[in-house]
Amino acid sequence: MSYKILVLVSEAAKFRLDNHSIIPSALHREGHDVHIGDIDTLCLHDNVVVVDRVQLNEEYLTGHDFPALSESYASAEDFDLVWVLTGTHPEALADSFQLLWLLNRRVPFVNDASALFYLNSKITLGAAVPAEHLPSSYVSNDFEYLTELVESDENRTWVLKPTNEGCGAGVYFVNKNERNRPALLQAATGNAVPRYEMYSRNIIGLSKRYTAVQEYIPNVRSNEKRVIIAGDVPVCGFRRFHFDNDDRANVTLGTKFEGLTLTPEEDAFVRDLGKRMMDLGIFYSGIDMAYPYIMEFNLVNPGGLNYSFRATGVDQSSETVNAVLAALRTAGKIS
Ligand SMILES: Nc1ncnc2c1ncn2[C@@H]1O[C@H](COP(=O)(O)OP(=O)(O)O)[C@@H](O)[C@H]1O
Ligand SMILES: [Mg+2]
Repeated sequence: MSYKILVLVSEAAKFRLDNHSIIPSALHREGHDVHIGDIDTLCLHDNVVVVDRVQLNEEYLTGHDFPALSESYASAEDFDLVWVLTGTHPEALADSFQLLWLLNRRVPFVNDASALFYLNSKITLGAAVPAEHLPSSYVSNDFEYLTELVESDENRTWVLKPTNEGCGAGVYFVNKNERNRPALLQAATGNAVPRYEMYSRNIIGLSKRYTAVQEYIPNVRSNEKRVIIAGDVPVCGFRRFHFDNDDRANVTLGTKFEGLTLTPEEDAFVRDLGKRMMDLGIFYSGIDMAYPYIMEFNLVNPGGLNYSFRATGVDQSSETVNAVLAALRTAGKIS
């Protein structure tokens, strides 16, 4: 079965070895009619969602020039499937998601627009992950409350994370005896007290910010894995390693990684999680796991195919896109 598929990416000068080149190329290789469009050109023209797009006629390799989007404001609705592989500028977020949601009323998405908006966040993890697989978690904008939480037990360490960031940005590790803890908690919750003192609330406006707080997972350094889930199949991923002097293991920091192996228990758990994600409209995701715990998941542009390829030399992109399409077919989302 061949589908007409629109892949939404961000326009760039050149393709890198990431999902924006790997996924459209794999779909093209598998015989689908693939078009890529720039998410920031989505508009509504006479009640039709349109986008600047171009049809693929070759595989895009790393370093290949990004093609001219020759079809200006062409219909984004004239497709069997849309795959969103990028976000947009935070200030355009609401408009972009409202256009995507409207498009998704008319065309099935690999990951539903509403699920991308609501679930690609460190706030909503508990909607998909069973409680026993989540570290103890809070979301708060209350510096005093979080101070009491961290002070209540000197044996617990906590991880503060911005609710909607990635690649390790603003991820802080705190415990009662950490002298930098008040400053980190204050920064994570928006530095409201110093800002109100310096400028006054009237001038500066609401300064409180939300932060996600998770209990530190003790086995993270010995068993952290990124797993890419296509439907309910753990198709690939990589084992992460930490630097000695950093508690974060994001590969964008330059950390080492190697090919993924899952224990039978991990494999069964990931498949079960994949089924829960599909029920929520998610058919392609990347999870960060230190079994039995999930730290976060990435739904828009999860690194995995690229690092797995670099670690093992095996290109799993064809089997991955085939697994996604098979799952969408089984769920009745595409015919
Ligand atoms: N609860 C936790 N316990 C231990 N380490 C954690 C925890 N949460 C995150 N980390 C570490 O910090 C890294 C970044 O956190 P993550 O939640 O994946 O956010 P990001 O979106 O920035 O990747 C993780 O890959 C992991 O190494
Ligand atoms: Mg992560």
